[in-house]
Amino acid sequence: MAKNIGILTAGGDSPGLNAAIRAVGKAAQGSYGMHVIGFRDGFRGLMENRAVRLEGGALSGILTTGGTILGTSRDKPYMMPVGGQTLDMTDAIVDNFHKNHLDVLVCLGGGGTQKSALHLAKAGLNIITLPKTIDNDVAMTDVSFGFDTALGIATEAIDRLHSTAHSHHRIIVVEIMGHNAGWLALGSGIAGGADVILIPEIPYDVDRVAEAIVRRSRAGKRFSIVAVAEGAVPIRTQTAEAADKGSRGKDKARKAPGESAAIEDQGMSHTAQLSRQLEEATGLEARVTILGHLQRGGTPSAADRLLATRPGTGCAALIDEGVYAVMVAARGEGVEPVPLEKVAGKRRTVPLDHPWIESARRVGTCLGD
Ligand code: F6P
Repeated sequence: MAKNIGILTAGGDSPGLNAAIRAVGKAAQGSYGMHVIGFRDGFRGLMENRAVRLEGGALSGILTTGGTILGTSRDKPYMMPVGGQTLDMTDAIVDNFHKNHLDVLVCLGGGGTQKSALHLAKAGLNIITLPKTIDNDVAMTDVSFGFDTALGIATEAIDRLHSTAHSHHRIIVVEIMGHNAGWLALGSGIAGGADVILIPEIPYDVDRVAEAIVRRSRAGKRFSIVAVAEGAVPIRTQTAEAADKGSRGKDKARKAPGESAAIEDQGMSHTAQLSRQLEEATGLEARVTILGHLQRGGTPSAADRLLATRPGTGCAALIDEGVYAVMVAARGEGVEPVPLEKVAGKRRTVPLDHPWIESARRVGTCLGD
């Protein structure tokens, strides 16, 4: 009997989601004769049984489009806001899985989605996931789709900021997404030639940053670009907050996902505060640019379309083989099923000995330490 596949997209949207929906759906239908239905707005849509048939032309013309045709939400099956309360809606989700005669649910998402997916697998459902995120922080995969597109957008922004910073002899502090992992700030900072790159993995000393800028200024380079990840933390804040929070440790002292620039001082965002501190310490004028959701919007890059299509078709093949409770990871030129148990709750941050870090240092970029 042909298998029935449910598919949903959860968490923050990411370029390449539609390419992945298309790849899973077309391969499942075309190669294996399966039926595919989508659920709107992530796990909430499955809980509310808001299904949409993904047959006929529904999967055509979406390869190049941004966002997700299914909509998304950050709702988790076990923690869903319903009627003013936050409830565990796992049972309703399990019921709707069976009401729709699903054989498997495909979940496209980032780190939070892997956790939700494992939860549903433990509740007895056949689940398979694909990793997507512009943050590139999903564990156990070489890379996640969405990252390459965001990297291109952030790099172009840094390129463009150079000419205006240069013309006005200013410091421009550009805030790049990534609360817990600095891949995007580091990658675009290196590619765009930022003079300073600050990432969550390396707490920064604002005095070191100011010194680097003053050194440049004395050498006749009267402008500087500072690429700062949302989650970058000043060394003093980190030490003080970690001490305050005692056993809760340094991770909890960092900003929470979705909580933009949460370290505030006198109502000022962390990035604005950094800009002000650099103005005071260097005597140069500074401006702030926050790239925000621009980094997640629009058409996916060619690399992300490939990265969504390759694991997407691999996902359909694994479903045909009956391989469940896995994430379809990108591994070299191929894909590899990784048990959800090994992915959920983990995060892929930038290792301090990563070649990108070494290269950044070797070209003279200040990393704030
Ligand atoms: O998780 C991806 C991400 O884009 C992060 O980089 C960013 O901090 C967060 O989502 C923003 O969340 P929201 O879409 O809820 O504003």
